[in-house]
Amino acid sequence: MAKVLVTGGAGYIGTHTLVELLAAGHEPIVIDNLVNSSAESLKRVAKISGQEVAFYKFDLCDSEKLNDLCGAENFDAVIHFAGLKAVGESVAKPLEYYQNNLQSTLTLLAAMEKHHIPSLIFSSSATVYGDPSELPLKETSRVGVGLTNPYGKTKYFIEEILRDWSAAHPDKQVTILRYFNPIGAHPSGLIGEDPQGPPNNLMPYVAQVAAGVRPELTINGNDYDTPDGTGVRDYIHVVDLARGHVAALSNPATGVRTYNLGTGKGVSVMEAVAAFEKACGHPIAYKIGPRRAGDIATCYASADLAAAELGWRATKTLDEACQDAWRWQSQNPQGFRQ
Ligand code: NAD
Ligand code: UD1
Repeated sequence: MAKVLVTGGAGYIGTHTLVELLAAGHEPIVIDNLVNSSAESLKRVAKISGQEVAFYKFDLCDSEKLNDLCGAENFDAVIHFAGLKAVGESVAKPLEYYQNNLQSTLTLLAAMEKHHIPSLIFSSSATVYGDPSELPLKETSRVGVGLTNPYGKTKYFIEEILRDWSAAHPDKQVTILRYFNPIGAHPSGLIGEDPQGPPNNLMPYVAQVAAGVRPELTINGNDYDTPDGTGVRDYIHVVDLARGHVAALSNPATGVRTYNLGTGKGVSVMEAVAAFEKACGHPIAYKIGPRRAGDIATCYASADLAAAELGWRATKTLDEACQDAWRWQSQNPQGFRQ
């Protein structure tokens, strides 16, 4: 059993990870400033798990509050989800993204040094591969080339910071998890993705069109060099992703380890829409629009390293992810704002 500080634990991936941590017998404690989430999500986690999660509402950049908490609790590990993640917003407000994502991480690392917390698991992204140099993407594939937005650059920069930090503190255990495209929701329908305003990502947008919240999906280009011309991505069920964190926690090692968390399978926008239509039982209205700036044609993972070293593989299907997303969407049309 580990006592785990979960930064950004009230968010989409954080809440699903809390459920899996509790199920595995760990003790998570959450810090979140609720800039992109609500405390209701943590009540839902308690409902699913039958256990309350300790929650501290403050900004991770607040070094004093963080040090007070780390001094009072004897944490075994940190899972660091906290960060801003909207790609378009990061282009409009780069300083906000660099300040929030980098400063919070630096503050956290300093606290981990001071309070001798041995282990860190960091939420990185397939976005660090930029323009893919090969497919499937391996952990050894080129990173940092073709990054088109400040959000993606914060992930790449933080990875570099973690390598420098680990070199100076070789006793620390640093695990970088590069998520591909997390989708879906907990099968209970109690927690899921709750975007504020129009969704930036495909699946929450599709879910809102299916629910009648938005009139139609715009497909961002159908002239890519892919089998049906639409973008291809590696969609991973958020519960599988959450379990990847538990697997990383259970297999500690010093130094920096980097793992892709994906399924290894590419799915086109058209295929994703068809899967969602099957799950909701009716057609999804769409039109074809222009390509989105900064988009790539195809991105999918080699997921073999996490299987070999962590004993983790994604097990849920695209159909299950769509069914679970639809359950969440239809049971919670206003998200966590009831
Ligand atoms: P989310 O926005 O739902 O969760 C992030 C949480 O961090 C939110 O609850 C937010 O309130 C909190 N937060 C942000 N800045 C904070 C700060 N300074 N102090 C305290 N709390 C703060 O996002 P998510 O989808 O759950 O993503 C979690 C992590 O995974 C993020 O770092 C994100 O960049 C990364 N990631 C997400 C995806 C994805 O598609 N969802 C893909 C790759 C990587
Ligand atoms: C986007 C981000 C990436 C981030 C990831 C997960 C960009 C350029 N990249 O990646 O940095 O890590 O989300 O948060 O924004 N699509 C449509 N219509 C829509 C929305 C999306 O056709 O309304 C298409 C896209 O063009 C793409 C696919 O659906 O082909 C998936 O898009 P999305 O869910 O935004 O994920 P990524 O593009 O992989």
